[in-house]
Amino acid sequence: MREGYFISFEGGDGSGKSTQIQILREFLEERGYDVILTREPGGTPISEKIRSIILDKANSEMDDMTEALLYAAARAQLVSQIIRPALEEGKVVICDRFVDSSMAYQAYARGLGDSVKTINAFAVGDCMPDLTILLKVNPQVGSSRIGNRERDRIELASSDFHKKVYEGYLQLEKLYPERIVGIDAADTIENISGIISERIAGLLER
Ligand code: TMP
Repeated sequence: MREGYFISFEGGDGSGKSTQIQILREFLEERGYDVILTREPGGTPISEKIRSIILDKANSEMDDMTEALLYAAARAQLVSQIIRPALEEGKVVICDRFVDSSMAYQAYARGLGDSVKTINAFAVGDCMPDLTILLKVNPQVGSSRIGNRERDRIELASSDFHKKVYEGYLQLEKLYPERIVGIDAADTIENISGIISERIAGLLER
């Protein structure tokens, strides 16, 4: 039985997700909601180990399908260990990235297509977000926001790849308009958080 509420955040690298996730967490906690914040790939000891394999710059020979399967494996562990139990206890789960990341990065940008949908359906079953906030950032702006910090294996991919990720997200937004709320990440932090909290407060009150 599932009684909680599942929110995911999506967007290209440098879209400002982390800032908005923190603001939403405080907004919900101030209103008395029990919030579990987690991230992908990661969020459990096993999934964090898988994360370090996926993002390690030294693994440049990683096959695209290996990459997609590792993301799905990390996700299966996170769902069974953290997300599903939290939802069954009536908590609000906020996840930094979920299946849509695999659809944008692996299905669209890597070109693996529908196989990514299939392996992820196997990994998460019916555990999908009730609402997904998509922060839309032009990939060039996103890349410049990453600045000088060291980039991981995915962030180091070509600008063409990141352009495809962006296009993938726009397609997902069109495909799932009832679940995905797209917001222009070029707007101010306050305006973006205002849109998000308004949308979520309305849904949680129901
Ligand atoms: P993060 O930087 O948001 O923590 O995510 C790590 C990187 O992994 C980021 O570049 C996006 C990428 N990614 C995928 O390619 N597929 C996925 O399924 C997920 C969850 C992340």
